[in-house]
Amino acid sequence: MTAIFTPYTLKGVTLRNRIAVPPMCQYSAVNGYTTDWHEAHYASIARGGAGLVIVEATGVSPEGRITPACTGLWEDGQIQGMARVARAIKAGGAVPGIQIGHAGRKASANRPWEGDDHIPSDQPNGWDTIAPSAIAFGGGLPKVPKAMTVADIQRVQADFVAAAQRALAAGFEWLELHFAHGYLAQSFFSRAANQRTDAYGGNFAGRSRFLLETLQAVRQVWPEHLPLTARFGVIEFDGHDEETLAESIELVRQFKHAGLDMLNVSMGFSTQNAKVPWASGFMVPIAAKVGREAELPVATSWCIDDPRTAEKAIADKQIELAMIGRAHLANPHYPMQIAQALGIEKPASVLPDQYAYWLSRYR
Ligand code: FNR
Repeated sequence: MTAIFTPYTLKGVTLRNRIAVPPMCQYSAVNGYTTDWHEAHYASIARGGAGLVIVEATGVSPEGRITPACTGLWEDGQIQGMARVARAIKAGGAVPGIQIGHAGRKASANRPWEGDDHIPSDQPNGWDTIAPSAIAFGGGLPKVPKAMTVADIQRVQADFVAAAQRALAAGFEWLELHFAHGYLAQSFFSRAANQRTDAYGGNFAGRSRFLLETLQAVRQVWPEHLPLTARFGVIEFDGHDEETLAESIELVRQFKHAGLDMLNVSMGFSTQNAKVPWASGFMVPIAAKVGREAELPVATSWCIDDPRTAEKAIADKQIELAMIGRAHLANPHYPMQIAQALGIEKPASVLPDQYAYWLSRYR
C-alpha cells in the first residue's frame, strides 16, 4: 500500500490518488479561446492516471494574460471550449481544476520559445501592463506598468469573480487562484514590486489586502462544497527568506479564515535576484512548515517527480498532493511509471480500465 495512490478528499471532491498535475500554460489559445490542442493535451494527461489535473493560468481579462496565446475566461463565449476541456479531464477519471490569474507587470510577453520577453505595446499583439506600482520587473520584461488606481483594483477583483463563475459554468470542480510567480497578486505582496502608500501597500496588512479581498470575493461565488485553493509564493530566495516566510505564513492563516481550502506552495519569482536552491523535493520542507504553522492542507511542486521523493513527502504527511508537472509532458502516463517504481503489483491498474485491463493481460 502506497501513500501516493491513496484517494484524497477535500470538501465534496475526492481524487483517485495524490498525484496532481499543476497548471502548465500551453501557449496555444487564440484570443483566449481554447483550441483542439488543449482538448487533446488535457485528455491525454487525465487518462494517464493523475487524481487532479489543473488547467493552465487562465487570464481573468485580456490584459491579464501572460502571452497573447494564453487562455482566458473574461467572456462567456470562452466557456464552451473550457467545458470541453473539463469534460475531457473528467472522462479520463481525473478531477478537473483550473487556475485563474492576472499576470500584472509580467503580462504581454512572447511565448517562452519565442523569447519569453515583453512585446512592446505598439506591436499589434502587445499591450500596456498594470501593477501595484510603476516598477518594471526588468531583464527581458522591461515594460514599466501603470500603477493601478483603486478603481483598477476593484475592476480586476470583479474580473476574478466573473472568471470564477465562468469556470464553474464550464464544469470545473477545483479552483486555484494564481497568487504566485511574480504576477499581479504576488507583486502586491512583494515589497520590491509594491511601493504604494495607500491601503494596498506599505505594511503587511496593506500588502496583503489585494490578495485577501480577492479571495473573499471569489469565495462568495465559488460553491462551499468545491475546493477553493491558491498558489502563492511563500519565499523569494532573495536573502530575506526568514522574514518573507514568516509574513507569508501569517497571510496563509488569514487565507484559511477567509475560506481557502488548500495552498499550493510555491516561490515568489518577484525579483531577478533569486537564488533558487534547485534540488529534488526542495520545496517539500517549506510546504510542510507552511501547512503545519497555518494549519491548512498543502500541496507543492518543483522537482518532486522522483517517485520515492513524492511518496515519502505524502507518507510523512508533509504534503497532501504531489504536483508533478514536466514529467507528465514527457510521459502523460507518468503515474504508471510511479507505480512501477514503487513496486505496485499491477502498475497498469492506476490507469483507466480501457488501458489497464490490456496492459495487465497476456503476461
Ligand atoms: C509551468 N508552471 C506554471 N505554474 C503556474 O502556476 N501556472 C502556469 O500556468 C504555469 N505554466 C507552466 C508552463 C510550463 C510549460 C511549465 C513547464 C511550468 C510551473 C508548473 O506548474 C510547475 O510548478 C513546474 O513545472 C515545476 O514542477 P515540475 O515540472 O518540476 O514537476
